[in-house]
Amino acid sequence: MKITDFKRMMAEGIPHEMPALKSYDQNLNHAPKRKDILNSVEKRLAIKNALRYFPERFHPLLAKEFAYELATYGRIYMYRFRPDYVIKARHIDDFPYRTRSAAAIMLMISNNLDITVAQHPHELITYGGNGAVFQNWAQYRLTMKYLSEMTEEQTLVIYSGHPLGLFPSTKDAPRLVVTNGMVIPNYSSQDHWEKFNALGVSQYSQMTAGSYMYIGPQGIVHGTTITLLNAARMTGKSDNGLKCKLFVSSGLGGMSGAQPKAASIAGIISVIAEVNQKALKTRHSQGWVDEVFSDLNSLVKRVRKATAEKKAISIAYEGNVVDVWEKFADENIYVDLGSDQTSLHNPWSGGYYPAGLSFEESNRMITENPEKFKDAVRKSLRRQVEAINRHTARGTYFFDYGNAFLLEASRAGGDILKPDGEFKYPSYVQDIMGPVCFDFGFGPFRWVCCSNEPSDLEVTDKIAIDVLRKLIKKSPDQIKQQMNDNIHWIKDAGKNRLVVGSQARILYADAEGRIEIASAFNNAISEGKISAPVVIGRDHHDVSGTDSPYRETSNIYDGSKFTADMAVQNVIGDSFRGATWVSLHNGGGVGWGEVINGGFGMVLDGTPDTETKLRRMLHWDVNNGIARRSWARNKAAMFTLKREMERTPDLNVTIPYIADDEIIDEALKGV
Ligand SMILES: NC(=O)c1ccc[n+]([C@@H]2O[C@H](COP(=O)([O-])OP(=O)(O)OC[C@H]3O[C@@H](n4cnc5c(N)ncnc54)[C@H](O)[C@@H]3O)[C@@H](O)[C@H]2O)c1
Repeated sequence: MKITDFKRMMAEGIPHEMPALKSYDQNLNHAPKRKDILNSVEKRLAIKNALRYFPERFHPLLAKEFAYELATYGRIYMYRFRPDYVIKARHIDDFPYRTRSAAAIMLMISNNLDITVAQHPHELITYGGNGAVFQNWAQYRLTMKYLSEMTEEQTLVIYSGHPLGLFPSTKDAPRLVVTNGMVIPNYSSQDHWEKFNALGVSQYSQMTAGSYMYIGPQGIVHGTTITLLNAARMTGKSDNGLKCKLFVSSGLGGMSGAQPKAASIAGIISVIAEVNQKALKTRHSQGWVDEVFSDLNSLVKRVRKATAEKKAISIAYEGNVVDVWEKFADENIYVDLGSDQTSLHNPWSGGYYPAGLSFEESNRMITENPEKFKDAVRKSLRRQVEAINRHTARGTYFFDYGNAFLLEASRAGGDILKPDGEFKYPSYVQDIMGPVCFDFGFGPFRWVCCSNEPSDLEVTDKIAIDVLRKLIKKSPDQIKQQMNDNIHWIKDAGKNRLVVGSQARILYADAEGRIEIASAFNNAISEGKISAPVVIGRDHHDVSGTDSPYRETSNIYDGSKFTADMAVQNVIGDSFRGATWVSLHNGGGVGWGEVINGGFGMVLDGTPDTETKLRRMLHWDVNNGIARRSWARNKAAMFTLKREMERTPDLNVTIPYIADDEIIDEALKGV
């Protein structure tokens, strides 16, 4: 296709002529049929809502088609309007635009919907089973049209995938403000999501799906590598924990698929169970999993061999993770590290497949008998917990990996609570990410080269290494390990061939690291050493971006972990300090109603104006969370904040006085 044709089609919006009906591509991974949640009045409303995007002359035909989609898939995706061009990241100048910032956003959206990147691309889902970019193809088309027309003095407003429109603003304002799934708090149960989403008025967008910052599984490979390395260090004794341990978990999907690759990078043997053949095949064909087994006895034999040889291989088990935990317990296979990465943020509609049922049987039961399916999920979770408890009694270190496993297992009645009502096992944030990373300001900084050229990515990798090497010389001891792990990571990142989709890179950096790396990129762009703008951003799963009591803020112990001021303040603060776009989400990671999170994207274009913006915004974007974590009396955050205040005279934050528990005990006596 000629580039001019592509540009014209991108900017077309809702077509004047009815496009041909599309066939349902069986070779792609599709979203499961969603629950039939609407009553007949609401079904009418859902169809009426969907028709709002189209001129009246299309309505007779589309009304029938949308009624069919709603009955067949539980949602109206408007498959007919899926464009005919290939959706993927391209050179920024291949997109139609009036401002390059808009083209950068198009690039990022396109990457999130690339069929080689997205989990259910035709349902506009990037990862996590229900992490949506848009609710339907009309929203995609209109958004692209608005972006192609937008000037430097307009801001596009998106409500849960719906492009409300372009509004006059200023050059310094964000070009795009996105909110996803924001609802009145009392209306935030799982079924509320099902209903609002089926009506076409709200969506669940995970974190980087609906904020257009997904960079394929690389993001999570890095996070998982850091987590596994530190988990192994924690459980290690003389060997510093890094002597080829065995890790057992589940999921080879969007994010979970990173587990085997990360384990191999960390030098750990991994066994990951996956019930969905398509997901398993994808990871195997990408080379992210070395070997596949579908028979438990052969699996046991292979694992025994690998542990005896101390050879870090990654193994996928085609089947249910509950069976693996039980079999390994029966066979006395010692598991060093254990976790779970099924999509338990979405337990009732295909996020978790219960043991004892095939993948297909489960999918049928979800729609035909949802109550029976719920029972099967609960029973399976109880079995899983029982088997895990047998392992942990022998010394396995089990951690919740941010998928609401502990929460749902406890709701299912699993034996997962201590007598005081707390979970028996920690979340990976409580033990690892919080105290080791977030409290020091380290989080998932990332960038995307808008030339879409691997050569630019190579230049940025080199720049990042140089910056980190310079910074580590004056780093305090408390963060040297972090800095070293990241230098090690970025040195090998190219070699590990982690790029799927856009030319992107991730590394964990603190405020200083992020600012200095971004600034060095901006200089390199102005000097022509990098050939096109670079987008910087991060996962919402970060120091300041996310309030999530069972994950990102699970290591907040002052009672404020159920508040969401930090995440909301973060987005507001980023928006007036220079972000090109900002997003605020309900849900993400652990589920709708369980978390508020936000993020940003910033286009580095090599100008002095951008240099000012990046310094201003990145400083806030990290130190907001450090200040909150410090106020919660987290020691590492108090240390980091004091260090930051010494470097930044304008930063003046309230520091907590630490009360002596004995004084409080004394005061409470006799009251
Ligand atoms: N820790 C983190 O940093 C982090 C980051 C992103 C996502 N998450 C969470 O992790 C979870 C997984 O994310 P994802 O993007 O991989 O989701 P996903 O839906 O793409 O993958 C989960 C996979 O688990 C498989 N599965 C479900 N039940 C199973 C079972 N009983 N046995 C074996 N396999 C089973 C599914 O078939 C699916 O392929 C989500 O809840 C997500 O929110 C955590």
